[in-house]
Amino acid sequence: MKDNEIKKRLSVEAIKYIKPNSVVGIGSGSTISYFIKELAKIKHYINNSVSSSYKSSYQLNQLDIPVVDINLVKTIDIYVDSADEIDNNMFMIKGGGAALTNEKIISSVSKKFICIVNSNKLVKKLGYFPVPVEIIPFSYPLIMNEIKKHVGGVPILRNNVITDHNNLILDIYGLDLSNVKLTENKLNNIPGIVTVGLFTQRVADIILVGNYDGSITRFS
Ligand code: 5RP
Repeated sequence: MKDNEIKKRLSVEAIKYIKPNSVVGIGSGSTISYFIKELAKIKHYINNSVSSSYKSSYQLNQLDIPVVDINLVKTIDIYVDSADEIDNNMFMIKGGGAALTNEKIISSVSKKFICIVNSNKLVKKLGYFPVPVEIIPFSYPLIMNEIKKHVGGVPILRNNVITDHNNLILDIYGLDLSNVKLTENKLNNIPGIVTVGLFTQRVADIILVGNYDGSITRFS
Protein backbone atom coordinates (compact mmCIF):
# COMPACT_ATOMS: atom_id res chain seq x y z
CA MET A 1 0.00 0.00 0.00
CA LYS A 2 1.24 3.53 -0.80
CA ASP A 3 2.03 6.12 1.90
CA ASN A 4 -0.95 8.32 1.11
CA GLU A 5 -3.35 5.37 1.14
CA ILE A 6 -2.04 4.43 4.59
CA LYS A 7 -2.56 7.99 5.84
CA LYS A 8 -6.15 7.90 4.58
CA ARG A 9 -6.80 4.55 6.20
CA LEU A 10 -5.34 5.77 9.52
CA SER A 11 -7.57 8.82 9.33
CA VAL A 12 -10.68 6.72 8.83
CA GLU A 13 -9.65 4.68 11.87
CA ALA A 14 -8.93 7.74 14.03
CA ILE A 15 -12.38 9.19 13.31
CA LYS A 16 -13.89 6.18 15.13
CA TYR A 17 -12.44 7.54 18.41
CA ILE A 18 -14.40 10.80 18.19
CA LYS A 19 -17.51 10.84 20.34
CA PRO A 20 -20.60 13.01 19.63
CA ASN A 21 -20.29 16.68 20.65
CA SER A 22 -16.54 16.50 21.14
CA VAL A 23 -14.14 19.37 20.88
CA VAL A 24 -11.41 18.01 18.61
CA GLY A 25 -7.80 19.23 18.61
CA ILE A 26 -6.21 19.10 15.18
CA GLY A 27 -2.50 18.56 14.53
CA SER A 28 -0.58 19.56 11.42
CA GLY A 29 1.13 17.95 8.47
CA SER A 30 0.34 15.72 5.51
CA THR A 31 -1.13 12.87 7.59
CA ILE A 32 -3.43 15.27 9.39
CA SER A 33 -4.61 16.81 6.14
CA TYR A 34 -6.12 13.37 5.38
CA PHE A 35 -7.64 13.30 8.85
CA ILE A 36 -9.23 16.72 8.29
CA LYS A 37 -10.81 15.44 5.06
CA GLU A 38 -12.32 12.53 7.00
CA LEU A 39 -13.43 14.86 9.80
CA ALA A 40 -15.41 16.88 7.24
CA LYS A 41 -17.66 13.85 6.83
CA ILE A 42 -18.73 14.02 10.49
CA LYS A 43 -18.53 17.80 10.98
CA HIS A 44 -22.16 18.06 12.16
CA TYR A 45 -21.49 15.45 14.82
CA ILE A 46 -18.68 17.37 16.61
CA ASN A 47 -19.06 20.38 18.89
CA ASN A 48 -16.01 22.27 17.64
CA SER A 49 -12.34 22.02 16.74
CA VAL A 50 -9.15 23.86 17.68
CA SER A 51 -6.22 23.92 15.34
CA SER A 52 -2.44 23.80 15.83
CA SER A 53 -1.48 25.78 12.72
CA TYR A 54 -2.69 28.35 10.24
CA LYS A 55 -2.38 25.67 7.57
CA SER A 56 -4.72 23.25 9.33
CA SER A 57 -7.10 26.12 10.19
CA TYR A 58 -7.22 27.07 6.52
CA GLN A 59 -8.15 23.52 5.51
CA LEU A 60 -10.77 23.29 8.29
CA ASN A 61 -12.32 26.55 7.09
CA GLN A 62 -12.28 25.43 3.47
CA LEU A 63 -14.23 22.32 4.44
CA ASP A 64 -16.68 24.24 6.68
CA ILE A 65 -15.60 22.34 9.76
CA PRO A 66 -16.30 24.43 12.88
CA VAL A 67 -13.02 25.77 14.30
CA VAL A 68 -12.52 28.27 17.12
CA ASP A 69 -9.73 30.06 18.93
CA ILE A 70 -8.31 27.75 21.59
CA ASN A 71 -9.02 30.38 24.24
CA LEU A 72 -12.74 29.97 23.66
CA VAL A 73 -12.97 26.30 24.61
CA LYS A 74 -13.15 24.96 28.14
CA THR A 75 -11.84 21.53 27.31
CA ILE A 76 -10.37 19.57 24.40
CA ASP A 77 -11.78 16.06 24.37
CA ILE A 78 -9.46 14.51 21.86
CA TYR A 79 -6.33 15.58 19.97
CA VAL A 80 -5.30 13.86 16.76
CA ASP A 81 -1.82 14.42 15.36
CA SER A 82 1.05 12.63 13.67
CA ALA A 83 4.80 12.57 14.39
CA ASP A 84 8.17 12.41 12.68
CA GLU A 85 9.53 9.55 14.82
CA ILE A 86 8.21 7.42 17.69
CA ASP A 87 10.20 5.01 19.85
CA ASN A 88 9.24 2.06 22.07
CA ASN A 89 8.58 4.40 25.02
CA MET A 90 6.11 6.32 22.87
CA PHE A 91 8.50 9.29 22.98
CA MET A 92 8.28 11.35 19.82
CA ILE A 93 10.11 13.79 17.63
CA LYS A 94 7.69 16.34 16.20
CA GLY A 95 8.00 19.65 14.42
CA GLY A 96 8.80 18.62 10.87
CA GLY A 97 5.96 20.95 9.91
CA ALA A 98 7.18 23.72 12.27
CA ALA A 99 3.95 23.65 14.32
CA LEU A 100 5.55 22.08 17.41
CA THR A 101 4.69 24.84 19.89
CA ASN A 102 0.95 24.72 19.39
CA GLU A 103 1.09 20.94 19.02
CA LYS A 104 2.81 20.64 22.39
CA ILE A 105 0.33 22.98 24.06
CA ILE A 106 -2.75 21.29 22.62
CA SER A 107 -1.53 17.75 23.26
CA SER A 108 -0.65 18.63 26.85
CA VAL A 109 -4.14 19.94 27.67
CA SER A 110 -6.20 17.41 25.74
CA LYS A 111 -8.04 14.63 27.55
CA LYS A 112 -7.03 12.07 24.95
CA PHE A 113 -4.16 12.16 22.43
CA ILE A 114 -4.29 9.87 19.41
CA CYS A 115 -1.20 9.75 17.23
CA ILE A 116 -1.46 8.33 13.71
CA VAL A 117 1.72 7.37 11.86
CA ASN A 118 2.87 5.25 8.97
CA SER A 119 5.05 2.38 10.17
CA ASN A 120 8.23 3.97 8.77
CA LYS A 121 7.98 6.51 11.63
CA LEU A 122 8.57 3.80 14.25
CA VAL A 123 12.22 3.65 15.37
CA LYS A 124 14.20 1.70 17.95
CA LYS A 125 16.07 4.85 18.89
CA LEU A 126 15.06 8.45 18.19
CA GLY A 127 17.40 10.67 16.25
CA TYR A 128 17.59 9.69 12.60
CA PHE A 129 15.29 12.67 12.16
CA PRO A 130 16.88 15.92 13.43
CA VAL A 131 15.30 17.42 16.54
CA PRO A 132 13.48 20.67 15.69
CA VAL A 133 13.48 23.52 18.19
CA GLU A 134 11.50 26.72 17.82
CA ILE A 135 13.58 29.74 18.86
CA ILE A 136 12.99 33.46 19.04
CA PRO A 137 14.81 35.20 16.17
CA PHE A 138 16.83 37.48 18.51
CA SER A 139 20.50 36.41 18.46
CA TYR A 140 19.93 33.01 16.93
CA PRO A 141 23.68 32.35 16.32
CA LEU A 142 24.25 32.72 20.07
CA ILE A 143 21.44 30.27 20.80
CA MET A 144 23.07 27.83 18.35
CA ASN A 145 26.35 28.17 20.25
CA GLU A 146 24.61 27.51 23.56
CA ILE A 147 23.05 24.35 22.15
CA LYS A 148 26.44 23.07 20.94
CA LYS A 149 28.09 23.94 24.26
CA HIS A 150 25.48 22.60 26.70
CA VAL A 151 23.70 19.85 24.80
CA GLY A 152 25.76 18.98 21.71
CA GLY A 153 24.66 18.18 18.19
CA VAL A 154 24.78 20.38 15.15
CA PRO A 155 21.96 22.93 14.92
CA ILE A 156 21.07 24.11 11.42
CA LEU A 157 18.73 27.02 10.72
CA ARG A 158 15.74 25.80 8.68
CA ASN A 159 15.76 27.90 5.54
CA ASN A 160 12.82 30.10 4.59
CA VAL A 161 10.68 29.02 7.54
CA ILE A 162 8.93 31.42 9.91
CA THR A 163 6.60 29.77 12.40
CA ASP A 164 3.02 30.84 13.13
CA HIS A 165 4.53 32.68 16.14
CA ASN A 166 7.00 34.54 13.90
CA ASN A 167 9.91 32.52 15.24
CA LEU A 168 12.66 30.43 13.63
CA ILE A 169 13.30 26.70 13.57
CA LEU A 170 16.65 25.06 14.21
CA ASP A 171 17.01 21.39 13.25
CA ILE A 172 19.57 19.73 15.53
CA TYR A 173 21.44 16.84 13.94
CA GLY A 174 23.46 14.22 15.80
CA LEU A 175 22.10 14.87 19.30
CA ASP A 176 22.89 12.33 22.00
CA LEU A 177 19.44 10.87 22.66
CA SER A 178 20.49 8.03 24.97
CA ASN A 179 18.46 9.85 27.66
CA VAL A 180 15.69 11.63 25.76
CA LYS A 181 14.05 13.24 28.80
CA LEU A 182 17.36 14.69 29.96
CA THR A 183 18.09 16.10 26.52
CA GLU A 184 14.62 17.62 26.33
CA ASN A 185 15.16 19.24 29.74
CA LYS A 186 18.61 20.57 28.85
CA LEU A 187 17.27 22.14 25.66
CA ASN A 188 14.28 23.56 27.53
CA ASN A 189 16.73 25.32 29.87
CA ILE A 190 18.42 27.32 27.11
CA PRO A 191 17.08 30.88 27.02
CA GLY A 192 15.62 31.71 23.63
CA ILE A 193 14.33 28.21 22.92
CA VAL A 194 10.55 28.40 22.90
CA THR A 195 9.70 24.74 22.29
CA VAL A 196 11.67 21.52 21.90
CA GLY A 197 10.40 18.99 19.37
CA LEU A 198 11.01 16.08 21.76
CA PHE A 199 7.71 14.93 23.26
CA THR A 200 8.46 12.83 26.35
CA GLN A 201 6.14 14.31 28.96
CA ARG A 202 2.72 14.11 27.36
CA VAL A 203 2.93 11.02 25.18
CA ALA A 204 0.03 9.74 23.11
CA ASP A 205 -2.65 7.66 24.82
CA ILE A 206 -3.11 5.65 21.64
CA ILE A 207 -0.80 5.25 18.67
CA LEU A 208 -2.28 3.90 15.46
CA VAL A 209 0.40 2.60 13.13
CA GLY A 210 -0.42 2.08 9.48
CA ASN A 211 1.46 -0.85 7.98
CA TYR A 212 2.38 -1.25 4.33
CA ASP A 213 0.27 -4.41 4.05
CA GLY A 214 -2.81 -2.29 4.83
CA SER A 215 -3.25 -3.40 8.43
CA ILE A 216 -3.29 -1.05 11.43
CA THR A 217 -1.54 -1.81 14.70
CA ARG A 218 -2.70 -0.11 17.89
CA PHE A 219 -0.41 0.71 20.83
CA SER A 220 -1.68 2.14 24.11
C1 5RP B 1 4.25 19.09 12.37
C2 5RP B 1 4.43 17.71 12.90
C3 5RP B 1 3.87 16.59 12.08
O1 5RP B 1 3.02 15.83 12.85
C4 5RP B 1 5.02 15.73 11.60
O2 5RP B 1 5.97 16.55 10.94
C5 5RP B 1 4.53 14.63 10.66
O3 5RP B 1 4.11 15.19 9.46
P1 5RP B 1 3.62 14.32 8.23
O4 5RP B 1 2.28 13.81 8.56
O5 5RP B 1 3.61 15.31 7.08
O6 5RP B 1 4.64 13.23 8.02
O7 5RP B 1 4.98 17.47 13.93
O8 5RP B 1 4.90 20.04 13.17
